[in-house]
Amino acid sequence: MGESSRRGFVAGLEDVVAAETRLSGVDGEAGQLIIGGFRVEELAGRASFEETVYLLWHDALPDSGQLANFREELAGRRELPPATLDLLRAAADEKVPVMDALRMAAGTVSPGTDDEEALALVTRLPAIVAAYSRMLEGEEPVDADPELGHAANYLYMLTGEVPGAEFTRALDTYLSTVSDHGMNASTFAARVIVSTRSDFVSAVVGAIGALKGPLHGGAPGPALDVVFEIGDASRAEAYLREKLGRGERLMGFGHRIYRVRDPRADVLAAAAERLYTTDGDMELYELALDVEQTALSLLAEHKPGRNLQTNVEFYTALLLHGLQLPTQLFTPTFAAGRVAGWTGHCFEQRELDRLIRPQSVYVGSRDASWMPLAER
Ligand code: ACO
Repeated sequence: MGESSRRGFVAGLEDVVAAETRLSGVDGEAGQLIIGGFRVEELAGRASFEETVYLLWHDALPDSGQLANFREELAGRRELPPATLDLLRAAADEKVPVMDALRMAAGTVSPGTDDEEALALVTRLPAIVAAYSRMLEGEEPVDADPELGHAANYLYMLTGEVPGAEFTRALDTYLSTVSDHGMNASTFAARVIVSTRSDFVSAVVGAIGALKGPLHGGAPGPALDVVFEIGDASRAEAYLREKLGRGERLMGFGHRIYRVRDPRADVLAAAAERLYTTDGDMELYELALDVEQTALSLLAEHKPGRNLQTNVEFYTALLLHGLQLPTQLFTPTFAAGRVAGWTGHCFEQRELDRLIRPQSVYVGSRDASWMPLAER
């Protein structure tokens, strides 16, 4: 037995409990996700994103007066200051990827109280993504419309057009569905940063960096690319088999915690079905369902007993594509939803006020002798 396992080292901190939270609970065996006391199926699709954020921060749904006040608080913070716009323009000139531009621009949120920073981060993230996406296309940013809610404003700032109710509902469903998810990597990163008594802006900047990786929030773009590359259901099996044969992972499948189907996949699948049947490319939708089924049967063959299932990212890709968002906005839009949970966890960690500082086990040599530079 090596020293590491004797001292309880667990690569990836699997099964290690790092926090107590009332924000969300994930039961990976039963395939259940609770957000702020509600099963995700109960909440998403009904709650506006503002209601979900309020629920996470205050542990209760707002009444109509509280909701109106909260919407107003957010509305007053959507405008991006000149320093943020300048930074985004410079990034657009260099064609910086959207997640990197988002990480840089999130850092321009002014220091304030925890409440002020949390409100600004929730409102600014989508405003930054929308403005930057337009700049990349050589277009001017569109100012928010104070009459519109959070989700509708995001689509409005992206396109300059007021979205229909079906689009707004689909985006609200998505943002609430991904608002929080236990001790995922980006949330853990945010909590570690706040635990040093650092600020919420720094925590969210760090969380954006963690979310960007392909094993976390970077999967939906590649998941959809696979569907496009396959192009026709008859090619799905050969294409996916070859990918697995090369030792590649199928994006949108598998999860560290879920051992059954990710319940968010069902919520988003239902939202995607509603969206595509009212206003979408049904051919693509059907193809995606075929690709999913083929992937599931090949994964069962590839890792028997592991029960690799569809995760949230597969249907995220389909839903956000149905909302006419380009692939490069999928992960940034995930950030715009998850910022609700990041900030909620920042509040919890602030209250706990305990530095997160785990141990490591030294596994290097212990008797090295110094060698002068000329002799190395
Ligand atoms: N395709 C192919 N093989 C897979 C996949 C997949 N999607 N997922 C897991 N495996 C394999 C692993 O390579 C591993 O094989 P090995 O034992 O030969 O090394 C085996 O199945 C078991 O893997 P796990 O331990 O269950 O995987 P882990 O917990 O480390 O990873 C993860 C979970 C990162 C999500 C993984 O399933 C994956 O890479 N999926 C694809 C990327 C993706 O969709 N990410 C989004 C996740 S959801 C979210 O973060 C919001």
